[in-house]
Amino acid sequence: MNYRHAFHAGNAADVMKHAALARVLAYLGKKDAPYRVLDTHAGAGIYDLDGASAQRTLEADGGIEKVLAAPLPPAAAELLAPYLDAVRALRAGGRRLYPGSPALALALSRPQDRFLFCELHKEERAKLEKRVGDDPRVKILAQDGWQALSAHLPPRERRGVVLVDPPFEEPGEFPRMVAGLEAAHLRFATGIFMLWYPIKDLRAVDAFRRDVARLRLPKTLRVELDFATVRTLDALSGSGLIIINPPFTLAEELRTLLNALAPLLSRDGKGRARVSWLTAEG
Ligand SMILES: C[S@@+](CC[C@H](N)C(=O)[O-])C[C@H]1O[C@@H](n2cnc3c(N)ncnc32)[C@H](O)[C@@H]1O
Repeated sequence: MNYRHAFHAGNAADVMKHAALARVLAYLGKKDAPYRVLDTHAGAGIYDLDGASAQRTLEADGGIEKVLAAPLPPAAAELLAPYLDAVRALRAGGRRLYPGSPALALALSRPQDRFLFCELHKEERAKLEKRVGDDPRVKILAQDGWQALSAHLPPRERRGVVLVDPPFEEPGEFPRMVAGLEAAHLRFATGIFMLWYPIKDLRAVDAFRRDVARLRLPKTLRVELDFATVRTLDALSGSGLIIINPPFTLAEELRTLLNALAPLLSRDGKGRARVSWLTAEG
């Protein structure tokens, strides 16, 4: 396991994924009933964008930094406010920090909500413990995220979101994701599932989408953002999310906010967002 998210924190893919996660949490937070967040590949929780790793790639400059600096259309600004306010709040102390999914989820939560974060890498897990582990609502496990999909579902709260965000550094991540989703959905059919995937190898992405559609789960949304018109097999040209059971407002919200973000997050200003149903309610 060589992957370290600190090299990529706050990049265009993170912005897309975290903006969507924030909308899902805003929806879940509308009801008083508690919800659970299961983050199967949690990372280190908070990242320093002036740290050596982030500075080596400068990926956040083409991601969160651009978005924070840009004037956004009012409708998109309103939808992005919870996410961007959480980023700004973390920087209130003067350091250029960025919240990973665990810190973002916590920033948007209420006292009754609960969090289960899995992180296999020892050093990343130690950072996560240090950064969010004091919160009594949080449990951090040194467990394989794929196993957690069966072991910890359904949650006691019976409502919540499962984020599956593996590093895609090993072969077989796409089929593992499909199998993990199938098993998890059997246990928690009403849960919201968000599966992140890289858009690099278009044939692999096509096969993945087909395999997800073949599961015939009701309400499967495909959300993609292209940030490079020139594709190569070794660089990310876009970022995707499969979302099962999205809140009924989410597809429209994501269209609005990703259409505003696409030109900002693309390398040539020609970025494109796609939000479409792989399977509809049925
Ligand atoms: C893409 S990063 C997570 C980023 C995080 N979800 C966020 O949005 O801020 C993936 C993380 O998964 C961890 N990881 C890799 N394989 C894992 C596994 N099988 N189970 C749990 N964690 C794993 C890596 O160490 C890495 O920190």
